[in-house]
Amino acid sequence: MLPQLITEIPGPRSLQLAKDLKQYECRNVTFTAANWPVFWKKAEGCNVWDEDGNRYLDLTAAFGVAGLGHGWSAQAMRDQSGEMIHAMGDVHPTALKLEVCKLLSEMTFERWGGSSNRGKTTLSNSGSEAVESALKTAYMVTAKAGIICFQDSYHGLGYGALLGSGLEKFRLPFVDQLAPLRELLDFPRKTADLALLKSQLGAIDSSAMGALIVEPIQGRGGKIVPPEGFLQILRDWCDEHQVVLIFDEIFSGFNRTGKLFACDWEEVTPDIICVAKSMSGGYPISACIGKAEIMDYWPESEGEALHTSTFLGNPVGCAMAVASLREHGKSTTAELVSERSAYLLRLLKNLESPLIKEIRGRGLMIGIELIHPDRSPAGDICGRILTEMMQQGIFMLADGAHGNVLAFTPPFTLTDDELDHIVARLDRILTLCSQ
Ligand SMILES: Cc1ncc(COP(=O)(O)O)c(C=O)c1O
Repeated sequence: MLPQLITEIPGPRSLQLAKDLKQYECRNVTFTAANWPVFWKKAEGCNVWDEDGNRYLDLTAAFGVAGLGHGWSAQAMRDQSGEMIHAMGDVHPTALKLEVCKLLSEMTFERWGGSSNRGKTTLSNSGSEAVESALKTAYMVTAKAGIICFQDSYHGLGYGALLGSGLEKFRLPFVDQLAPLRELLDFPRKTADLALLKSQLGAIDSSAMGALIVEPIQGRGGKIVPPEGFLQILRDWCDEHQVVLIFDEIFSGFNRTGKLFACDWEEVTPDIICVAKSMSGGYPISACIGKAEIMDYWPESEGEALHTSTFLGNPVGCAMAVASLREHGKSTTAELVSERSAYLLRLLKNLESPLIKEIRGRGLMIGIELIHPDRSPAGDICGRILTEMMQQGIFMLADGAHGNVLAFTPPFTLTDDELDHIVARLDRILTLCSQ
C-alpha cells in the first residue's frame, strides 16, 4: 500500500516520545533531532505505521531483516509462544533447535557439496555473536590468532567482531582494548583491483593468521559488489596457507542478492558462513555454520559449553527461523528478488541527477552513491534526502564509510506501483537537493 500521511512527520506523539526517551536511554543510541525519528507502532508486509497513525513504505526491511515482509513469521511466533517461550539451549534443548541446525546444513554445506558434506552450527542471538563464534572456531582450528579483513567491512560491534571490522568509525574508539594482530586488505571494486589484492595477500605472514573474514558483497560499507574471481582468489589463498575462510552473509544471505547466498553467484564456498537478520524475519537469532570437520575442532562438551549464552536456540526464534528458512529455500523466493530487482534497477537507471555518482548492487541490495557538486563526501546531502523521503512516507537508510550511499534493501514483495511511487518521490527530492 502507498504511504498515507495524516500528520506532519514526525507527528506530535513521536516528538513527545523522542523527548521522553532522551531522559532514559544512553544518548549515544538513538539519534534525535527536531525532525527525527518517528516511533514505529505496527508493521505488515512492506508497510509500517507510526505512533501517530501515519502509514509508510519501508525500503530498509528494518536493517534487512524483513526480507519476506514484516510479520511474515508472526504466526510461527504466536503458535510457539503458546507452547513455550524459553528452554535451556545448551542443556535441555528443543526439537526445534535440531530442525534449525538441519535446515541450515541442507541450505549450505550439503547443498554445496552433497549430503555427506554436513554443516554444523552454533546458534546465537545477534550477527556479531555469530561472527565471534566463527573467529573462535578459526582459532580452535589453526591456533593462529591473527585475522585478515577488509577496508570498510562491517561485522558487528562486539569486541571479537570488531577485530575483523574495517569501518574505522566503529573500531577506533575502542582500539586500545583490541588485540593488534590484524591485516587490513583493500576491498576490490573492479577486475583491475584483483592484482593489488593478490600482492597484498602475498605480503602477509600467514604463520600468524588463522581467519580471513569477508562479506561477499559489502553491505554497510556501501553496497559494493566485488569483481568476479574475488572469492576464488581468497579461497585458493586460504587453502594454501591453512587459514579459515569465513563468509559473513549476515546481510547478503537468504536471497537478499537474488540467490540463496551471495557466494552462490561465484560458486565459491567458505569454511564457515555467518547468518542472521532474515533468518527468522525478526527474532534475534543468528548462526555460525561450518563444515563438519572444521566445527569438530571444538572439543566434545563435557557438561560445560565453552561458547554459549542464556538464549541460545530460543524456541520462539527457532520456530520463526524454521518457517522463514523453508520459505527462503524455495526457488520462487530468489526468483521474486531477481524480478523485483530488475524492475527497481530499471527505474533507478532512469534517474538523472548531478548528485548521483554510481548506482550499484545485486538483487535487492542496491546502493546509490552520491556526490555533491560543492562538497564531497555527500553524507550531509544523504541525511537531507533520508529526512525528505521520510516526510514523504518512505523509510530509507544511508551506508558507506561517509554515509553517502542511499541504500535500497526492501522487503522482497514491493509492487510495481509502490516502486514507481518511491522512485518518483526520490527523483523529485534529488532535484530539490541539487538546487
Ligand atoms: C555483514 C554484517 N555482519 C554483521 C552484522 C552485525 O549484526 P548485529 O547487528 O546483529 O550484531 C551486520 C549488521 O548490520 C552486518 O551487516
